[in-house]
Amino acid sequence: MNSHEPRHRNRKYDRELLLGGALRSTVLDLWEVERYGADSYGDADYVSVYGMRPATWYAKGIRLLGRTAVECTRDVLGQAIGQDVAAVAGTAPCLTTALVVDPFAGSGNTLYWLLRHLPGAHGLGFELDAGVFGVTQQNLAELALPIDILNTDYRSGLTGVSVAEDQLLIAFIAPPWGNALSPTTGLDLRRTTPPITEIVDFLLRTFDKNRLLCAIQVHETVDPGSLAELNSRFDWSAEQVYGLNAAGENHGILLGTKGWVP
Ligand SMILES: C[S@@+](CC[C@H](N)C(=O)[O-])C[C@H]1O[C@@H](n2cnc3c(N)ncnc32)[C@H](O)[C@@H]1O
Repeated sequence: MNSHEPRHRNRKYDRELLLGGALRSTVLDLWEVERYGADSYGDADYVSVYGMRPATWYAKGIRLLGRTAVECTRDVLGQAIGQDVAAVAGTAPCLTTALVVDPFAGSGNTLYWLLRHLPGAHGLGFELDAGVFGVTQQNLAELALPIDILNTDYRSGLTGVSVAEDQLLIAFIAPPWGNALSPTTGLDLRRTTPPITEIVDFLLRTFDKNRLLCAIQVHETVDPGSLAELNSRFDWSAEQVYGLNAAGENHGILLGTKGWVP
């Protein structure tokens, strides 16, 4: 099939089609990105990333795989997250600019928004999937963004990071949710892939000499037991939910600090 040939024209473009196999690791055409937005959210520009609507980013040579179109942090959410993270980071008593790490980089769009709100900070991402990594690396190069991304597992990536003692480390944590989202009790932070609790423990152990700010992507409903377990690891924490989608489909962040209280 060449890239102009219609595929799945008569199917609904939803999460299942883009994540479930058929288009998961396929580079989407522009009409498919717009169709996913329109079919699933009534908005052809839903998958706006890097500060651009789909028609604009596609014209610049930016591409997304089916899975990344679904999994990415889109602009409106990235913008809100960037603003809230920067507000807390601004209270940290650090002398040098922050290092911002997204251990599950995906499209790299969350890093893009975090850096827009943290001028001078350096951005680093890790992405395990070779296909996602290849497309993202190409996109970041097209846009000449100051973000380094490595094709590696989050643990080996973080192990290789060196942070000065007076430097604030900011980590954005959004691993695949897998089956962690229950319709009754919400997102269980112990059941994502890998578990968010395990990722936070690894960060706390690896960077025990640094001030750390974790921004963890959560659903509007979070399993209370898992939330209490996670909060107990931080010196300070707060939750923020963004009402950008229909009720029951909203995301937010849990902000947690170690080494200071904002
Ligand atoms: C929900 S997406 C992240 C979205 C991203 N923050 C963005 O702005 O687009 C999760 C990503 O983590 C990657 N991933 C899953 N397990 C990983 C691991 N152990 N180490 C690194 N990346 C991983 C997946 O391939 C996927 O691209």
